[in-house]
Amino acid sequence: MHNIWRHTAPANIALIKYMGKTDASSNIPTNSSLSYTLNNYLTTVELELAEHDQWQPWNEQNPFNIALTETAQQRFIKHLQFIKKQLNCPAHFIIRSTNNFPANCGIASSASSFAALTKAAVQAICELKQIPLLSIEQQARLSQQGSGSSCRSFYSPWCLWQGDNVKPVDLAYKELDHAVILVNAGTKAVSSSSAHQRVTTSLLFSNRVERAEQRLTILLDMLSQSHWKDAFQIVWEEFWDMHALFETARPSFGYMTADSMKVLQYVRDCWQQYKDGPLTTLDAGPNVHLLFRPDQQSLKTALLQYLQEHYHVI
Ligand code: DP6
Repeated sequence: MHNIWRHTAPANIALIKYMGKTDASSNIPTNSSLSYTLNNYLTTVELELAEHDQWQPWNEQNPFNIALTETAQQRFIKHLQFIKKQLNCPAHFIIRSTNNFPANCGIASSASSFAALTKAAVQAICELKQIPLLSIEQQARLSQQGSGSSCRSFYSPWCLWQGDNVKPVDLAYKELDHAVILVNAGTKAVSSSSAHQRVTTSLLFSNRVERAEQRLTILLDMLSQSHWKDAFQIVWEEFWDMHALFETARPSFGYMTADSMKVLQYVRDCWQQYKDGPLTTLDAGPNVHLLFRPDQQSLKTALLQYLQEHYHVI
């Protein structure tokens, strides 16, 4: 019998965004979302049997070890306790977690962290209780309760999350190259969990579901039929829509900086010049995420070469 369990889960980037909840306590999204899984960006969570539930720093040297704030530690412990309750488990654990990517690199670690914690907790509890391991679908649903976007990290390369249904989708582009133009590595003033609440005060929020669902239908179609340019247009409109919700909330808030705008302008120029370019999106942050097709290597090199002269690119 083990007393230590380790599990790993990837981050993901949404092209149709989860923004707004119909039920905040269980992270039920107002609209469907579609994401691409970032299999190179991983969180590992280790659970060890203990006297009481606690969080501890990772116990090995690692340049990207996470120093969780008190609030983040409590949120993590709360999620473990939620899973324990669901599975009727009396045991206690030490939670340790680490990333293979730097914090504040423009990639949200909450999706990968909560997915890895869920996997480790489910594995540990099922083994201790000698019950069959929960299905991936059941694990994804549990994970959603900890952090909504983490449920999408259970499927790769594409995941569709609609209400309480999370599933993989088969689209034409199986493997994409992901890059982040890091315009600002600082921590955000408004967390994404708080953004979910604040966007509901925007007058634009009343039609948000229709817009997101309509885009989702079109985007799935475009990505199935390899219509890359049309997919770019939809993905572009979608992140602007989400950022417009932030900017028109009452009171307004925002994440984009002058540098985000410069990068976006450059990407648009590239699209105009080459009639081709990367899918481009921003999360609740100022950093610009680019997704390239594997056959776009020379375009990617040219574009990133210029951007690297001004920004950190990862
Ligand atoms: C902007 O999953 O971080 O990245 O459910 O409150 O934990 P909670 O929120 P979270 O929200 C992610 C928002 C987003 C868009 C997305 O990933 O779909």
